[in-house]
Amino acid sequence: MCGIVGYIGQRDAYPIIVKGLQRLEYRGYDSAGLVLYDGNDICLTKTKGKVEDLKNKAEAASCNTGQLGLGHTRWATHGIPNDINSHPHYSNSGDLVIIHNGIIENYESIKKALIKRGYTFESDTDTEVLVNLIEEVKNTEEVKLGQAVQIALNQVVGAYAIAVFDRNKPNEIVVAKLGSPLAIGIGDNEYFVASDASPFIEFTNNAVYLEDEEMAIIRPGKEIKLRKIKDDAIAYPNIQELQLNIEEIEKGGYDHFMLKEIYEQPRAILDTYRGRLLADQGLIRMAGIDQNLEKFLNANRIIIVACGTSWHAGLVAEYIFEDLARIPVEVEYASEFRYRNPVITENDVLIAISQSGETADTLAAIKMAKEKGAFVFGVCNVVGSSIARETHAGAYTHAGPEIGVASTKAFTTQITILTLIALKLAKEKGAFSDSKFHEYLTELEAIPEKVETALQSNVLIEQIAEVYKNSSNCLYLGRGYNFPVALEGALKLKEISYIHAEGYPAAEMKHGPIALIDDQMPVVVIATKKGHYEKVVSNIQEIKSRHGKIIAVVFEGDEMVSELADHIIEVPETSEPLSPLLTTIPLQLLSYHIALMRGCNVDQPRNLAKSVTVE
Ligand code: G6P
Repeated sequence: MCGIVGYIGQRDAYPIIVKGLQRLEYRGYDSAGLVLYDGNDICLTKTKGKVEDLKNKAEAASCNTGQLGLGHTRWATHGIPNDINSHPHYSNSGDLVIIHNGIIENYESIKKALIKRGYTFESDTDTEVLVNLIEEVKNTEEVKLGQAVQIALNQVVGAYAIAVFDRNKPNEIVVAKLGSPLAIGIGDNEYFVASDASPFIEFTNNAVYLEDEEMAIIRPGKEIKLRKIKDDAIAYPNIQELQLNIEEIEKGGYDHFMLKEIYEQPRAILDTYRGRLLADQGLIRMAGIDQNLEKFLNANRIIIVACGTSWHAGLVAEYIFEDLARIPVEVEYASEFRYRNPVITENDVLIAISQSGETADTLAAIKMAKEKGAFVFGVCNVVGSSIARETHAGAYTHAGPEIGVASTKAFTTQITILTLIALKLAKEKGAFSDSKFHEYLTELEAIPEKVETALQSNVLIEQIAEVYKNSSNCLYLGRGYNFPVALEGALKLKEISYIHAEGYPAAEMKHGPIALIDDQMPVVVIATKKGHYEKVVSNIQEIKSRHGKIIAVVFEGDEMVSELADHIIEVPETSEPLSPLLTTIPLQLLSYHIALMRGCNVDQPRNLAKSVTVE
């Protein structure tokens, strides 16, 4: 987690660093810091709190001049969030300054060795240990900064994206990466460094994404030099032209990124299937699948690995793949899968789902599955991300940047991609007729418009939110395709409003959660007319008999549930496998409004981060 940003060139670094940090705040926001260097004076400011707090502190201290700058926004791992533990960190001599995203796992033993050699430490961080290790190597081996960084990194275990400079070399930043992302923006006589390209997109479209175990020495006016950290081999920079545009990373008139991203879903889903779903030709075209069709068709099973909301999309996919394509599927939390010695064979296909493409556990699960011979397919949103690069093939969701920490459009676009894959495989396997296939294609094509209609319930949902905003608990129930939607609805509510919420398969309610139901308990039930409808209606009756309050999400025109529920939210009717794309919309809006009414920070909920690059 954590976001890093850096600049070296002719411009004033301060505004670039501050704005860059604001764009990276989704990666962590418990503290922030920056350092500026004009060749004579170094000025370092850091603080517990948000980038806005840092900005105030830096401006009060007139810490805003210099053409070299580094900035950091933190999600604490080692050491509580406070001013001292915030980055950047100085080395003992005060010559080296570092920012770091990642974890140095063997920092304790290195720290002990450094203490024996007379080093002292102000903070509790692993990062301060790393910068002093670099200093120690630099002094004892009498090497330049780049070499010192390289030697030091060969002694550490863990993950890092670092940027470091030496007071004696005002014209140089050294960066290195393993496990955490690092992009270098290439301008005219200037370079930018950041955890993703958003901090420099208005300055340059040209970027290099460092590969794992690569480092670079960056000097304005000189070509970028890449090296392999392990063996010093020269690596050649693959300069990419970025597609990102500035509007995509601004709020665009919405109060919050989350709301903007909820409303972007019709467009995002359309962008996901654009050029892939060709209903008039009765075709689904996806290069990553087309080129590896045999692997999918001959697979023993598909294993889906993911975390958080992406794991919920994986659960929806399990229903679709098994139901439509008749391929056995297992859905695994990446963090469990990677450590439980799973049986993986060469005939398994592993699908890794990740919005950011950087989640450490998902990345590790991919590496393990590859070692065991499985074919690995990635479903990512962030183009060029680590997971996108690590997989054998994949499909981007094309949702555009998702900045709100609570995932919304990433979820629906992941489901869209996975539905396209399942439909394509079902067709190839002859699991359904041309006309049935065509029916699904047309139905999927109509989803963006139906999402638009579902969004029109916003005002009604706001009213419902007003009624339940002070609840302490909330239960979400669904069955079949809408069981994962119940899990996702509960996750959305708890992560941004801090109300305890649980998602459950509706029928399982009687095996425990029913004990919680009383007249204080709101129960959100997804009760779409297709798929176990009568059974869900019975579950609603059971809640009613215990005086629970029912908020039901139903298809338009529903009468039976409308008579029973306290509140009804309608979404347009669609086929059952596609229903999660619609039923999830009101649940996103409900959690958004409740969180807002409770005064919570919707885009940056406490303790969370958008991109979880630590295990
Ligand atoms: C974090 C985010 C979630 C996200 C999960 C997995 O917990 O807050 O929104 O679903 O990580 O992230 P990924 O980028 O792999 O989808």
